[in-house]
Amino acid sequence: MDFHVKNMGLSQMGKKRIEWAELDMPVLRKVKESFAKKKPLKGTTIAACLHVTTETANLMITLKAGGANTVLCASNPLSTQDDVAASLVKDYGIPVFAIKGEDNKTYYKHLNAALDVKPNITMDDGADLVSLLHTDRKNAAKNIIGSTEETTTGVIRLKSLAANKILKFPVIAVNDASTKHFFDNRYGTGQSTLDGILRATNRLFAGSTFVVCGYGWCGKGVAMRAKGMGANVVVTEIDPLKALEAVMDGFRVMPIGDAARIGDMFCTVTGNLNVIRKEHFLRMRDGALVCNSGHFNVELDLVGLKAVSKGKKTVREFVDEYTLRNGKTVCVLGEGRLINLAAAEGHPASVMDMSFANQALAADFLVKKGRTLATDVYTVPQEIDKEIARLKLASLGMKIDVLTPEQKKYLASWEMGT
Ligand code: ADE
Repeated sequence: MDFHVKNMGLSQMGKKRIEWAELDMPVLRKVKESFAKKKPLKGTTIAACLHVTTETANLMITLKAGGANTVLCASNPLSTQDDVAASLVKDYGIPVFAIKGEDNKTYYKHLNAALDVKPNITMDDGADLVSLLHTDRKNAAKNIIGSTEETTTGVIRLKSLAANKILKFPVIAVNDASTKHFFDNRYGTGQSTLDGILRATNRLFAGSTFVVCGYGWCGKGVAMRAKGMGANVVVTEIDPLKALEAVMDGFRVMPIGDAARIGDMFCTVTGNLNVIRKEHFLRMRDGALVCNSGHFNVELDLVGLKAVSKGKKTVREFVDEYTLRNGKTVCVLGEGRLINLAAAEGHPASVMDMSFANQALAADFLVKKGRTLATDVYTVPQEIDKEIARLKLASLGMKIDVLTPEQKKYLASWEMGT
């Protein structure tokens, strides 16, 4: 079996951590049990490009239980958990191509290695495999039944391919399932981003001014949790509706140019590029902490920061201190890459449970229906989304009401009025 991981000697710890995550993934466990019986993915080769974490390991194990041939590469050079990569290879026989801290060339070598297995389905977190299938690896696209996409940023890229009429196969936007973005993007990013900042810096949130750039689902989660830790939260936005929502949620809203002067900590979660630029870095307080929790490392203009700096040194793991020409310092965390996965372990298993149940069932759906779908971007079928919510509630021991026949009739009627 061909693979490329950092150190096979780490596998024992990886296995323990994979099993620990599994304990908090009851919905995915149910999917795995059903897959193991029915083998719905038999004969299918799946190449996944996801963050190599304990939760992703459980997804890969589930896909294999369903009969799929699988291969995994990283969707970010800094997010790989090397012990997990080793255990997947050694204990589960799943080839992995991923090493934490790999350079860009190795990152792409690993993506290409995943495509070399001639997949029928790809799973992306950020659309990098699909991107390659539309550029350097066009030939490999002919085997593809369909693809799935985990994140908002990836879905934006895919919709752009579809709008330009060049998308080559159907894609399921797993991100857009309610049981994905309401929970993973909000509560997952909220908790894991703060976890990353804390592990990297061990700074006190209480009483600090915390600036969140972007008030999408991820931004809402980060703002909510920073407030819960006692920070004074400031939100920056470009969308008037989201900005208004932030105001009504009790946050101060202002342009980044103003926020730059008052923030102690900054976190970007916009999905856009160069959100914090050199003119903003120059206005910051001495010692300000700056990080990103959006998918790509483009939200902080680090080229601009370098241009206005006279020195840079690593002062702690994941903390680079830049000394600016004006004499002040700015600390960039995790090289501007996703701080929750660079400095912490990403979202907790309990939310990834629903995200990855969606992924597994989306793969099943593609095997069954992919060949009948036109090339477009689709949401996860509602029945799957609702079933995942039902299973999650059941796993939490929660029960809900059911409509009475009279209520059902009322909802279907238009005659009853004032
Ligand atoms: N994205 C965010 N958190 C993650 C995790 N724990 N595993 C995989 N992908 C993630």
